[in-house]
Amino acid sequence: MEKTEKKSRGQWGSGIGFVLAAAGSAVGLGNIWRFPYLAAKYGGGIFLLVYVVLVITFGVFLMITEIAIGRKTGLSPIGAYTKLGKKFKFVGVIASFVAFFILPYYSVIGGWVMKYFASYIGNQHTALADSNFFSSFISSGAEPIIWQVIFILLTTAVVIFGVEKGIEKASKILMPLLFLLLVGLAVYSATRPGALDGIAFYFKPDFSKFSMNLVLAAMGQMFYSMSLAMGIMITFGSYVKKDENIETSSLSIALFDTIVAIIAGFIIVPSFYIFSGGHAESMNAGPGLMFGVLPQIFEGFGSSTVTTIFGAVFFLLVFFAAITSAISLMEAVVSTISDQLKINRKLSTFIASACAILISFLPSLGYSALSNVKIIGLDILDFMDFITNAVLMPIGALLTCIIVGYFLTPKTIIDEVRISSPFKPAKLYTIVIRYFGPAIVIAVLVSSVLNTFGIIKL
Ligand code: PHE
Repeated sequence: MEKTEKKSRGQWGSGIGFVLAAAGSAVGLGNIWRFPYLAAKYGGGIFLLVYVVLVITFGVFLMITEIAIGRKTGLSPIGAYTKLGKKFKFVGVIASFVAFFILPYYSVIGGWVMKYFASYIGNQHTALADSNFFSSFISSGAEPIIWQVIFILLTTAVVIFGVEKGIEKASKILMPLLFLLLVGLAVYSATRPGALDGIAFYFKPDFSKFSMNLVLAAMGQMFYSMSLAMGIMITFGSYVKKDENIETSSLSIALFDTIVAIIAGFIIVPSFYIFSGGHAESMNAGPGLMFGVLPQIFEGFGSSTVTTIFGAVFFLLVFFAAITSAISLMEAVVSTISDQLKINRKLSTFIASACAILISFLPSLGYSALSNVKIIGLDILDFMDFITNAVLMPIGALLTCIIVGYFLTPKTIIDEVRISSPFKPAKLYTIVIRYFGPAIVIAVLVSSVLNTFGIIKL
């Protein structure tokens, strides 16, 4: 009985398949448009250093915790937390809510990426490099909606095939390809005339930039980039076999995510450095950088052929990064719907997909028909991003630390991890989950909320 039940929930076919799927979730828009920008803003090497230290000391432990919770309970977040204790159910609800709301607006951006890819392929690079192109495209109403719906349908087409035949298979193809494209673009960018100064800027630690803000920015980026605190790693963990080494898997996922982010910096930072005449610190994050500035930078690459190829490959890379993340978001939603409502995968996938499409209209129309709708001064898309990343994710991470640290006790997780690995740093784990983690998450939470309301400037 136990066995057939497990089977109907799905299971990873191999350890490497699981690692690639989790890495696919982790590697996303955050690695490409946010990490290089943060590094440029916060003193290059010093930011990289703080980020890597945080990943090793906290991120990996949180990832181990989530995967272990998933594997131990064999359920998606709501069921998993309920199984650990009825009073913890709400933590699972928050986590599922985060995934449910990120998917629609993430897909809006995924649609923009597809549009740019198609435009490069169609040799329209000059139009893309026009500084008004992006704003007129996103405010055009119908076209962006068509693209985002295609993006969601493509995501659905993978998720519907299930854990092993859908997600694992797609990740095994897309992730190595993504890595190849990434390295190719980085080599080209880093060897352009003048790029060396940009690389030096990216790596040279400017210690004067070290500040509490830097640590907070690195921490916020870490949660987002590693897809933590939104139920994804719990869901993915629930498909992991008991003999899979959670410790080395988590380390590999974190390593992959961090390396991709650092290499993405090789593509973005030197190019921006040259383009801005040495003022890489003036870089911006988000859509403005990716859809506004980068096409202008690519336009300056000399020949039309080079611009077309570079632009097309770049947006293909971003598309791979975005869709593998969207797949993980949809999977978290599908798994929750099917566990909670006790319905089969196909029907749950259909429901999740339909909800994502319907909700995605809101953030998209926020730039056209609903452009006068502002919530706490933000566009709908920015607001959804803020409420999920800056508020709910840190709250989810904090609650995870508190529940594991003080109620279940770290031993529950340590025992689960030790089924398949020695887990030597168990003592350190206990300290991080009980003290270091909660302290730092509270700092991130308070500061990001104050920052959004303009009370402090991060
Ligand atoms: N980790 C992804 C990134 O770096 C972001 C993401 C958020 C992925 C939510 C899945 C879910 O872009």
